[in-house]
Amino acid sequence: MASTGTTSTTGGGHEWWRTAVIYQVYPRSFADANGDGVGDLPGITAHLPELQNLGVDAVWLSPFMTSPQRDAGYDVADYCDVDPLFGTLDDFDRMLEAAHGLGLRVIIDLVPNHTSSDHVWFKDALASSDGSPERGHYWFRDGKGENGDEPPNNWESVFGGPAWTRVTNPDGTPGQWYLHLFDTSQPDLNWTDPWVWEQFRGILRFWLDRGVDGFRIDVAHGMVKADGLPDATPDEAAGSMGGAGGALALEPEISDEPPSLPYWGQEGGHEIFRDWHKVLAEYDGDRALCGEAWVDPPAKLARYVRPDEMQQTFNFSYLETPWQAPALRTVIADSLAAFNGVGAPSTWVLSNHDVVRHATRLGVSGDNPQGHGLGPKSNVTVDAVTGLRRARAATTVMLALPGSAYLFQGEELGLPEVIDLPDSARQDPTWFRTDGERYGRDGCRVPIPWTAAGPSFGFNDTGASWLPQPAIWALLARDAEELDPDSTLALYKLLLAEREGRGLGAGELEWLKGFGDDVVAFRNGGVTVVANLGEASIALPDGEVVVSSEPLTGTDLPTDTAVWLLG
Ligand code: NOJ
Repeated sequence: MASTGTTSTTGGGHEWWRTAVIYQVYPRSFADANGDGVGDLPGITAHLPELQNLGVDAVWLSPFMTSPQRDAGYDVADYCDVDPLFGTLDDFDRMLEAAHGLGLRVIIDLVPNHTSSDHVWFKDALASSDGSPERGHYWFRDGKGENGDEPPNNWESVFGGPAWTRVTNPDGTPGQWYLHLFDTSQPDLNWTDPWVWEQFRGILRFWLDRGVDGFRIDVAHGMVKADGLPDATPDEAAGSMGGAGGALALEPEISDEPPSLPYWGQEGGHEIFRDWHKVLAEYDGDRALCGEAWVDPPAKLARYVRPDEMQQTFNFSYLETPWQAPALRTVIADSLAAFNGVGAPSTWVLSNHDVVRHATRLGVSGDNPQGHGLGPKSNVTVDAVTGLRRARAATTVMLALPGSAYLFQGEELGLPEVIDLPDSARQDPTWFRTDGERYGRDGCRVPIPWTAAGPSFGFNDTGASWLPQPAIWALLARDAEELDPDSTLALYKLLLAEREGRGLGAGELEWLKGFGDDVVAFRNGGVTVVANLGEASIALPDGEVVVSSEPLTGTDLPTDTAVWLLG
């Protein structure tokens, strides 16, 4: 096999976040110690040993702060306390200590684009007059039209419907409008207000003082809005859920310079991350920021991780790449080149709490469902067997790549999206704001199975579950997979151990040629990685098979299979 001269690195440096595999815990659905049907911090603490045993380096916790839970905790009412649903600050401290004791780093979610409408800052703003400093912390504006009864501009909420809601004055008359790029209960903060900057410096220090290793920054690409809040052009406004990527994800991509929508990817956002970089630098231990920035292409995304900004950013271009070898090769090469160009590690991700799980997504034909979720009436065909087979191969490729990778809880069990949730169980604001036109994200958030037997498959011991769990969870439960050497769990454990042992996270990628267009092939750290995405089998290359995404028989590498080879 011939190799090209192309090599890429993780961007230099030895900080933990350059190579870490980070496991996303979605607290509502991970483990429920008090049996109320919603996961909690003591539940996480109890199951950290399984995560250490899996072989990950760190966990990222989705929000557990005080919140009315209108958007599953991404609507924060107090940034410096734990919602009673999840426990207490003491529970958090215990969880953090236990994680560190097991050698696991912990990053937590920070939601700076918006607060909950229950936050005291917003309540104060509502109680204050038009033009007051309190209102200045948010985006309050007079409406258009003779009576101000039209929204200030034409922006649409990511969750559907207008991005503006009108308030009622204390005397009962209609008042100003406030901006919410998401639900009405999530008013956007005004990041031109220095007061807001000061509050968030304090919030960062609050958690850094407690010992967190970093933050995942929610909606990092949306915090700064274009001067004057200009209208979006009609086409762009109409497509705000799907954006340039064709309805691929929760939030739209941006692919042009200058930004094509006045609320995504504005240049001013980078100043905030420079400020936070300095706050983190006050602390020891390589603390890190990871941005949730739905920005494309990778060259533009890399601007979020320049040396004085964030340490990492999610690579959603990778997540959105279809299961086609040329596209996969391109996104890998572009990502490595772009991130390496700014001295940052590439990151890789296939699933999270906002998208259709990749074990289902990769088996779907029909209109791409991401961002719209999947439900009983979705106009797609799902081939679950193919989906899982491709998902295992996709992860086998991903975990061989240099840089840092994110896993979403349950993917190590091969969990599929739960498509047949009853309408009455759905909780995603997207579902409500679009009158059921978009199913939203509940299908990837169903509480995960720990045991094949027992109430709620070991999620708790009462059987309560905030979303109903499907019967197939019995087959995919962790204790069942622990006994099966061919299980997805066994595959993930092997991949993680070999990745760690062979230092692949810090390795260099060298493309291999001569395999044909449907094959992704490269070397990293002495390992040859070959993934066959074509319909026909190919000859298994020479070498000792260290990992295979499927059991191999004979000398073929079948379709939708990836291997790691030595020699
Ligand atoms: C991105 C989060 O991942 C998603 O779950 C949330 O709904 C939006 N940001 C709004 O906070």
